[in-house]
Amino acid sequence: MNHSPLLEKAIELLREVNSEEPVLDLACGNGRNGLYLINQNIDVVFSDIKESALEQVKSTLISHHDEDKSSAKFWQVDFEQDSFEQEELKPLAGKSFSAIIVFRYLHRSLFEQIKQAVTAGGYVVYETFSVDQPQFGRPKNPDFLLRHGELAELFSDWQIIHSFEGIIDAKNADAESGKQAIAQIIARKP
Ligand SMILES: C[S@@+](CC[C@H](N)C(=O)[O-])C[C@H]1O[C@@H](n2cnc3c(N)ncnc32)[C@H](O)[C@@H]1O
Repeated sequence: MNHSPLLEKAIELLREVNSEEPVLDLACGNGRNGLYLINQNIDVVFSDIKESALEQVKSTLISHHDEDKSSAKFWQVDFEQDSFEQEELKPLAGKSFSAIIVFRYLHRSLFEQIKQAVTAGGYVVYETFSVDQPQFGRPKNPDFLLRHGELAELFSDWQIIHSFEGIIDAKNADAESGKQAIAQIIARKP
């Protein structure tokens, strides 16, 4: 259960961010990334639509961590419930995090909510597949693939600390090539 190397680039920033708020691991899955932050003594809210995913994170925490000392919280939520028109019903409305990390998940309607929910001086760490991915495997649906320059444009009013688009070697890639096309960003909110 390896965390993304991108998080290691952000770890000092996430440790030093001047905020009382936790980090949100948005669509956390098995929690590989949030658990890495917990190991670095950073408070994390694990969020996913799947109760089973959150249960898996909890059992990993119980088997590998002193639960009492763990600063993990859990939030079962559907981030795609944005058919609601009312602002206050949007999943991230009124919430505040020192950083939001998003890995291998894309729902474009959430972008503005993500930007709003990060405290001033906080961070977004985002990594998911780009439009070049279909040659290597899933996903192939353009709704789940970042366009070239999309993250950099989205965070153009933030301080961009790291930005990458390209092909990486990935052990868990579902293509024989073992390659994945991804885009990454680490950005700081003004
Ligand atoms: C490809 S996994 C990525 C998991 C994790 N971020 C990682 O990189 O290992 C995508 C995750 O998004 C979650 N997800 C999908 N639709 C969702 C929704 N509408 N609201 C919340 N989570 C959702 C899935 O349950 C799954 O755990």
